[in-house]
Amino acid sequence: MATLVEFKNVSKYFGSVIALKDISFKLESGGCVCCLLGDNGAGKSTLIKILSGVHQPSEGEILFEGKKVEFNSPRDAMDQGIGAVYQDLALIPLMSVTRNFFMGREPTKRFGMMDMEVADKIAQEKMAEIGINVRDPSQAVGTMSGGERQCLAIARAIYFGAKVLILDEPTAALGVKQSGLVLRFVAQARERGIGVILITHNVNHAYPIANDFTLLNRGKSLGFFHKKDVSREKILEMMAGGEELKELEYDIKEMARSDKDKSPKAKSPKAKITKH
Ligand SMILES: Nc1ncnc2c1ncn2[C@@H]1O[C@H](COP(=O)(O)OP(=O)(O)O)[C@@H](O)[C@H]1O
Ligand SMILES: [Mg+2]
Repeated sequence: MATLVEFKNVSKYFGSVIALKDISFKLESGGCVCCLLGDNGAGKSTLIKILSGVHQPSEGEILFEGKKVEFNSPRDAMDQGIGAVYQDLALIPLMSVTRNFFMGREPTKRFGMMDMEVADKIAQEKMAEIGINVRDPSQAVGTMSGGERQCLAIARAIYFGAKVLILDEPTAALGVKQSGLVLRFVAQARERGIGVILITHNVNHAYPIANDFTLLNRGKSLGFFHKKDVSREKILEMMAGGEELKELEYDIKEMARSDKDKSPKAKSPKAKITKH
């Protein structure tokens, strides 16, 4: 299979801070989700900022559609098909859905005037395509839920021609239902053939949707894995704190068990029946 994005031995230094060291990974073309996993400070945001033109790598090279690229600015990366959705989303809560969707790239009429009617229609249609009904596209973005806002930022990147979609912790601030909304949309983007780099520290969100995984730990790669070669448990174990998480899980189970033993209800036969 062809490769859409490849990092070859990329390092990034900020003065004496080694944010990334010798990172290599591939994002296959044809609709693939590569999850970038790692704890805080692992270098995840630095990596995507390199791909989206915010930073230049100190060492190594990046190939995009087989060719070596150097993005000088986020605009440069965007023009070539790299769509980054940052954690803070870069949406303006008080501005309308339509304004946020186009952000200065609104369709114009004959004399350079903005064509609000067309803009509203496109924004509404594109949101409807992903299952979000915007009754009034002139409503402020601030009235939308967190998941809907995340979806708007993704829909915008896709509409403006992203071949690669980079999502930095899209579900970090969301509840279960809203996270589901975003992850379903990520799956839709993949179906359309868009390559997705999904950054998260939540293995449970990453695992069902990912094709491949890259694990980062304090700027170094712990490896690149195809899903078929690695279990959810193995990933947890490899991530920083994996062992501690296991211990924590064990402790919580033990606590729950001792609580149950103490509870008089748990011993009654009725309580046992209602458990099913
Ligand atoms: N602009 C910068 N200047 C100096 N150090 C930075 C800068 N950006 C990131 N770092 C450092 O690089 C490391 C990785 O950071 P980051 O990529 O934000 O990690 P993550 O997103 O995985 O939490 C951290 O030690 C961080 O302090
Ligand atoms: Mg980060």
